[in-house]
Amino acid sequence: MSFFASRLERIKPSPITSATRKVRELRAQGRDIIGLTIGEPDFATPENVKRAARDAIANDETHYTEPDGTDELKEAIRTKFSRENGLDFARDQITVANGAKQVLYNAMMATLMPGDEVLIPAPYWVSYVDLVLVADGTPRIVECGERNGFKLTPSQLDAALTRRTKWVLLNSPSNPSGAVYSRSELQALADVLLRHPQVWILSDDIYEHLVFDGREFTTMAQAAPALRDRTLTVNGVSKAYSMTGWRIGYAAGPQALIANMAKLQSQSTSNPCSISQCAAVEALTGAQESVLARTLEFQHRRDLVLSLLAGTPGLRCHPPQGAFYVYANCMEALGRKTAEGRTIATEEDFVLHLLDHGVAGVPGAAYGLGPYVRFSIAADIEMLKEGCRRIRHACADLR
Ligand SMILES: Cc1ncc(COP(=O)(O)O)c(C=O)c1O
Repeated sequence: MSFFASRLERIKPSPITSATRKVRELRAQGRDIIGLTIGEPDFATPENVKRAARDAIANDETHYTEPDGTDELKEAIRTKFSRENGLDFARDQITVANGAKQVLYNAMMATLMPGDEVLIPAPYWVSYVDLVLVADGTPRIVECGERNGFKLTPSQLDAALTRRTKWVLLNSPSNPSGAVYSRSELQALADVLLRHPQVWILSDDIYEHLVFDGREFTTMAQAAPALRDRTLTVNGVSKAYSMTGWRIGYAAGPQALIANMAKLQSQSTSNPCSISQCAAVEALTGAQESVLARTLEFQHRRDLVLSLLAGTPGLRCHPPQGAFYVYANCMEALGRKTAEGRTIATEEDFVLHLLDHGVAGVPGAAYGLGPYVRFSIAADIEMLKEGCRRIRHACADLR
């Protein structure tokens, strides 16, 4: 019998980390690779936030804090929800963890029993499935194709819910598709959920600020107040404030759920870094100009990438409405041959072919919907231009 717990056999390391490691390895061998795999803003953390962290160290804010976040940070989060989402929460309805990822982990670990199902619309963020599996749950994947803008429809939701469904995971703007649910789309899903009182909703809003073309961001608790007592609204500072390394995520929801998530965290990691918490207070309550400026920059990059890839043989890009990825359909590239006579049979072959041409993306299999490749647009303009040139070249090379 293995020394290692059987739960580890259910999960796999993140394919994004593997893809990014591959890029690093190839570069170490001297290869020139444009890496479009990574899921983090390429901007620096704003100056005011860095200053707050330096002040925190100078002021000796370097001790244990309350296990799931300081009162100051929870107040800042309350202010954020009220200011940006029109949602009022009490302090004991808020929890802070080491990134939104730990929030999701806590929520699944605190609620799932063997046999409980979690409905996950695909394409999905890679970690959802593994987070459910490690917590003894059963992921139920619902494929949401390009025809409906990669969004879950009310009839798909209705058909997929069972007596064992405990959670529905919604992510808008979506990683990897960039789909953004409108208020009325959320309300239509809510109409179905209101008929299934045993089902809870986890709304992963981590890309909240990255919405394009003047679209309005809405979260489920706002669109459907009747669902608030079974909705966990998850967010964090990683993407909005370029703070991926600081590891601060948070959530707001019913007090009993929050208390149980906090209990679990108190016996695992305890508090997130005290200095990062001070920095997150400044991020959420300080100047917000950089958020909009960076969103406009991402929108500009999206437009650039879409225009540079338009008409590329074998590739079709559905315009993302938010986040910072382009999820490109490579169906028409399959079955073609490279100049060396190799057949591109799968999306993985296609991704390897792109690597041969010096550009890296992540195969759609990682996100539960193929054949696609996810390209991150969190790279500077010159890199994106060169990356797109290489993608076009690689595609033109196929017969
Ligand atoms: C959809 C989604 N949710 C959550 C996370 C995790 O964010 P954090 O850095 O706060 O753990 C990510 C990070 O890539 C993500 O893409």
